[in-house]
Amino acid sequence: MDRLLQARQDIDRIDTELARLFEARMAAAAEIAVWKQAHGRPIRDKARERELLIRNSARIQDTALRPHYCAFLKDLMSRSRDYQEEILRPEGPTLLWVRTASGNYPVCLRRGILAQAGRLADLERVVFLVTDEGVPRTYAETVAAQCGRAVIHTVRQGEAGKSPAVLTALLESMLRAGLTRNDCVAAVGGGMVCDLAGLAASLYMRGIDFFSFPTTLLAMVDASVGGKTAVNLGGVKNAVGIFRQPRAVIIDTEVLATLSPRHVANGLAEAAKMVLTHDAALFARFEEPKGYGPVEDIIAACLQIKRAVVAADEQEQGLRRVLNFGHTLGHGIEAASGGALLHGECIALGMLPMCAPAVRNRLVPVLERMGLPTFGSFVFDPDAAMAAICHDKKAIDGGVEIVTVPEIGRFTFRKASLEELRQMLLTLIKKT
Ligand SMILES: NC(=O)c1ccc[n+]([C@@H]2O[C@H](COP(=O)([O-])OP(=O)(O)OC[C@H]3O[C@@H](n4cnc5c(N)ncnc54)[C@H](O)[C@@H]3O)[C@@H](O)[C@H]2O)c1
Repeated sequence: MDRLLQARQDIDRIDTELARLFEARMAAAAEIAVWKQAHGRPIRDKARERELLIRNSARIQDTALRPHYCAFLKDLMSRSRDYQEEILRPEGPTLLWVRTASGNYPVCLRRGILAQAGRLADLERVVFLVTDEGVPRTYAETVAAQCGRAVIHTVRQGEAGKSPAVLTALLESMLRAGLTRNDCVAAVGGGMVCDLAGLAASLYMRGIDFFSFPTTLLAMVDASVGGKTAVNLGGVKNAVGIFRQPRAVIIDTEVLATLSPRHVANGLAEAAKMVLTHDAALFARFEEPKGYGPVEDIIAACLQIKRAVVAADEQEQGLRRVLNFGHTLGHGIEAASGGALLHGECIALGMLPMCAPAVRNRLVPVLERMGLPTFGSFVFDPDAAMAAICHDKKAIDGGVEIVTVPEIGRFTFRKASLEELRQMLLTLIKKT
C-alpha cells in the first residue's frame, strides 16, 4: 500500500513538472511559429521532426519503452503544430510570450478578444474578478460569463484604491467567497486594479493564479505585464508590493472606446517613455502630423520592449530600472499634486529634465500633441515633491539613481544629487 502511495506521489510530482515543461515547450513553439511566418517558412518541417524522433528516442534507455515514447513525441509534435497554426490564424490574436525565471505566459492582443477570455485563460473554476467603480461593469460581466463561477468585487476608483485597507477588504472578500488554492483572481481594470489585484493574488493562501484584463491604455502598454504589484502606504507610492507574474494577459482594445481622452493621453505617456528610450523609428511615428497609426501597433511595440526588459531582469536588479525613466521626478510630482495630475501626466513631466536638449526639443511637441503637460503647465509645491522623492525607495546615500536619454532610442543610468533633482523640478513649475 505504501509503495502504491509512493508511486502515485511520484506520478503527481512528475506530471506537475511535465505540465511546466509542456508550457515552456509551447511557448518556444509559439516563438518559432511567429519567426516562420515572418520568414515565409511552413509550420511543418518533416526533416527536423524525424531528426528529433531519432535523437530523443535514443535517450530512452529501456528499449521496451521506446515505441511508446516515439508515439508520445509524435503526438506532442502534432499538438505543437496545431497550436502554431491556431496562433497564426489571421483572425487570431497577436500573441507574445513573456519569458521570466518564474514562468512564461502569453499576452494576447486583439480587438473584441474579451468575449473569448474563457478560451485563452483557464477560467473553469472560481474566478474572483476585481474591477473598480469607474470601469464599465459590462467588461467584468463579459469575463464572468465565461468562468466556472465568478465573483465580481468592485473597489473604489482612483489611486486611493491602491491602499492597505482596500487590499485587506479584498482578501477578506476572497475568503468569504470560499476561494481555494486552485481558484484564481482576475483584474479587469486599469493599472490601479492590476497592481492591487495582483498583490491580493500573490498573498492569498501564499499565492494563487492571477490573470490580467487591462482596460486602460496605460495598463495595456505597461502595468499589466511584468509582474509588479503594489499598494501605497503612508503617502509613499508602491511602498508595499511583490513581483508576481500573471498566468496570462488578455488585451481587448475595444474597451478603450469608453476611456476618456485624458486617460488615453495618460497611457501614451508610458508608451512615449518606452519608445523614447528604445525605439527611434517608432518615436518618429509619434512625430507624424497624421498621427501614430493603429493603437494596436503602439501597444504591440511597447509590449515587445517591455517583455525584452522583463526577460533580461525580472526583479529590477539592473536593466529593468530603465522603465523608471521619468518616474523619479514623476512620483514626486504625483505626490505633490494631491491627485490633480494622473500618473502618466506626472511621468511626462518627469521625463523632460532627464533628456538632452535636442531630445527635449523633439519630445515637447509630441507630448503636447498627445495632450500631456510639459514645462510650465502646472503649479506644484517643489518641497512636497522633494519630500516624496526623499522617501522614494530608490533614494540611496543622499543621491538618487536616474535614467537619462542622451539621444532618442538610447538611455544611460547615473546618480543625481538631491539638489540637482530640486533644480530639475524647478524648471517644470508654472510661474505664478
Ligand atoms: N505594475 C506596473 O508595472 C505599473 C506600471 C505603470 C503604472 N502602474 C500603476 O498604474 C496605476 C495607474 O493606472 P491607470 O492610469 O490605468 O489608472 P487607473 O487604473 O486608476 O484607471 C484610470 C481611470 O479609468 C477608469 N477606467 C479604466 N478602464 C476604463 C475603460 N475602459 N473605460 C472607462 N473608464 C475606465 C478607472 O475607473 C479609473 O477611474 C498607478 O497606480 C501606477 O502606479 C503600474
